[in-house]
Amino acid sequence: MDFLPALIRWYREYQRALPWRETSDPYAIWVSEVILQQTRMAQGMEYYLRFLRRFPNVQSLAAAREEEVLKIWQGLGYYSRARNMHAAARQIVLERNGVFPPSFRELQTLKGVGLYTAAAVASIAFREPVPAVDGNVNRVLARLFGIEEPLLTPGFVQRVWALATSLTDPVRPDLSNQAWMELGALVCTPRQPDCLSCPLQPGCVACARGIQERLPVRLPKTGVRPRYLHYLVLSLQDSVFLRRRPQGDIWQGLFEFPLVETSQMADLAGLMQHPEVSGWFDSQPWRVQGQPVCYRHRLTHQLLHVWFYEVKLTRMPRLPDEYIMVSRSSLDDYAIPRLIDKYLTEL
Ligand code: ADE
Ligand code: SF4
Repeated sequence: MDFLPALIRWYREYQRALPWRETSDPYAIWVSEVILQQTRMAQGMEYYLRFLRRFPNVQSLAAAREEEVLKIWQGLGYYSRARNMHAAARQIVLERNGVFPPSFRELQTLKGVGLYTAAAVASIAFREPVPAVDGNVNRVLARLFGIEEPLLTPGFVQRVWALATSLTDPVRPDLSNQAWMELGALVCTPRQPDCLSCPLQPGCVACARGIQERLPVRLPKTGVRPRYLHYLVLSLQDSVFLRRRPQGDIWQGLFEFPLVETSQMADLAGLMQHPEVSGWFDSQPWRVQGQPVCYRHRLTHQLLHVWFYEVKLTRMPRLPDEYIMVSRSSLDDYAIPRLIDKYLTEL
């Protein structure tokens, strides 16, 4: 499928009316692109209008005191971006006579201007045919071409850059770049992309395979702590054992099965030797029924690996006092973490 004509036809009809699309002033476009890197559209629009009212051109920004720039920026976060913009404005005024650098290459010499910002300004303000690849574009292209390398790994970046380059309109890169972003913002959204209204659907690999919601593949964030939780779903006749999760940890106050947490990946053999676990069974022989089930669950700062082992007992286990015995049929009366609920439902 020839994606570009379909995309641009769609964009001409459905694009949002955004104030920076009414101008070809590189300064205004630069301001919009920096602001949009860290905020949602509605808030970004407010800041953009406020910023341009106070600093309508690169001269007024360069002449401002830093405090004034930071004041206008207040609430957007990443104050280094505002400081960099201020410094870049001074660079333009002092070193370039106030003339905005007119190319992708030269734009990158400005303080704080990286690949994306340089490409966006060069293509939108100067119609230089370079692809502007932001989060939206990464997502759309990963899906359209079924790219399964994890997001932003070297292989991913290379493939997306090559594709994006070939999918940039040589004459109207301002339109094609913004159209790709717009498709990601309006149709090919992070969750529940609207493939039925997508102009590119006939050629989309992810949609054909039904994997659009799984792409792009995300690696766990750095600074994410892995945790290994092993639930032993002990049953004695038709009863199971539960305790309330302690304060100060995930799922606090919710109920869970007997739990052993290990500091590293552990298999069943390792688990059986775990001192806590062997204490529970005293000398009662035990074994796991069927295959253990494992779920992986991402929280902001933790990656949980959660196993469930079904164990049938014939005698009371020796669990700590905090555990209570409840019939399986009354499990519904207890507030349990969603993950445990999922396990019970899929069981
Ligand atoms: N996000 C950042 N810049 C954008 C633009 N020019 N159009 C749509 N979304 C954007
Ligand atoms: Fe995204 Fe769906 Fe369009 Fe593919 S068909 S590009 S997954 S919205």
